[in-house]
Amino acid sequence: LAKIEIKLSDIPEGKSVTFKWRGKPLFIRHRTASEIDIERNVNVASLRDPQHDNERVQKPQWLVLIGVCTHLGCVPIANAGDYGGYYCPCHGSHYDASGRIRKGPAPLNLEIPFYEFPEDDLLIVG
Ligand code: FES
Repeated sequence: LAKIEIKLSDIPEGKSVTFKWRGKPLFIRHRTASEIDIERNVNVASLRDPQHDNERVQKPQWLVLIGVCTHLGCVPIANAGDYGGYYCPCHGSHYDASGRIRKGPAPLNLEIPFYEFPEDDLLIVG
């Protein structure tokens, strides 16, 4: 199956970039120190789909997500919504900067694909 290679130095801190991968949007977000701090300190027990940020990232500064809303499959918008992550305009689901569902109808966190960092500056998804 197709893999995608992404050069990480092309993505500045604070930016979320969308790639196309296996026919779906793939979101790569270069998180800031403050985003990392906020997401690590969320009370997991308060979440609809409880997952600690540590379970969702391999390296704290890089968030890798499938950009498909877990409600009915629309593509969320980056850097929007009430939780500083992603907002799905179809029916109003708000995701945080760990891709976790925080508000709205979506039942689950945004999916994380298989990925690895073969080198410091290189991400391979798939
Ligand atoms: Fe995203 Fe319904 S498809 S909120």
